[in-house]
Amino acid sequence: MDTLPVSRMRVITIANQKGGVGKTTTAINLATALAAIGKRTLLIDLDPQGNASTGLGVERDDRAVSSYDVLVESASITEAAMPTAVPDLSIIPSTLDLLGVEMEISGSASRAYRLRDALHFHAEATPLFDFVLVDCPPSLNLLTVNAMAAADAILVPLQCEFFALEGLSQLLETVEQVRDTLNPALSLHGIVLTMYDGRNNLASQVVRDVRSFMGDHVYETIIPRNVRISEAPSFGKPAILYDVKCSGSQAYIRLASEVIQRERQLAAA
Ligand SMILES: Nc1ncnc2c1ncn2[C@@H]1O[C@H](COP(=O)(O)OP(=O)(O)O)[C@@H](O)[C@H]1O
Ligand SMILES: [Mg+2]
Repeated sequence: MDTLPVSRMRVITIANQKGGVGKTTTAINLATALAAIGKRTLLIDLDPQGNASTGLGVERDDRAVSSYDVLVESASITEAAMPTAVPDLSIIPSTLDLLGVEMEISGSASRAYRLRDALHFHAEATPLFDFVLVDCPPSLNLLTVNAMAAADAILVPLQCEFFALEGLSQLLETVEQVRDTLNPALSLHGIVLTMYDGRNNLASQVVRDVRSFMGDHVYETIIPRNVRISEAPSFGKPAILYDVKCSGSQAYIRLASEVIQRERQLAAA
């Protein structure tokens, strides 16, 4: 009889300290695409704004247990995870309570490791998930540091705009610092260019610049600017459910297969 390979839960943190670059959109749609190919996936919303929760149709009143409870150690990952309308996709929603968490836990020695510890505990029991994606707030605060300390790898959405690279250096420095101090195993999974508009000359210049600066770290898939993508959250649905045929959904499906491919390469290395 074949023995099943030991599956390991993989944690990918989606981070960029800039707002509006496509973190939440990427978190929702990449998570949906991974779930659609049968990967048991958990999305953790670590942004007090809760856009990932809203975008997946979790109403504020239904957020009884949230990522806040995990960070203050009053709920486990299993207790906080709730199912979504997408089979194989669960979410730990966020609430505005997260705004106060930094003050609440800043005096604790484990403050940067709250999420990591909760995920380790989960992985060592009977893990319910193959992939955990963490959606970060637009800042390099303690929430993002928790998400980086807990991650196997970071995925960075970068908007195709003039200042894209400027913010990237600062982000990569933070990743470096987290690797030096909190999480030596942390790697850069990849950089995904988002909101690409082919009619804009500047956008193609940005793509060339980012590729020459970051080389193979940049995924081949580029997410186009697509109105269907921006409409979907108001229906509480991932774009992939709202309109699977639109160019944005198709791009996120391709990104998911690239992510899986990189995972295989990492596992083989
Ligand atoms: N590919 C896209 N095409 C069109 N609109 C997009 C696309 N990606 C994101 N958006 C829109 O841009 C805004 C910011 O995206 P979001 O994912 O919330 O960024 P972040 O989480 O980094 O702040 C949202 O209104 C979102 O719907
Ligand atoms: Mg967001």
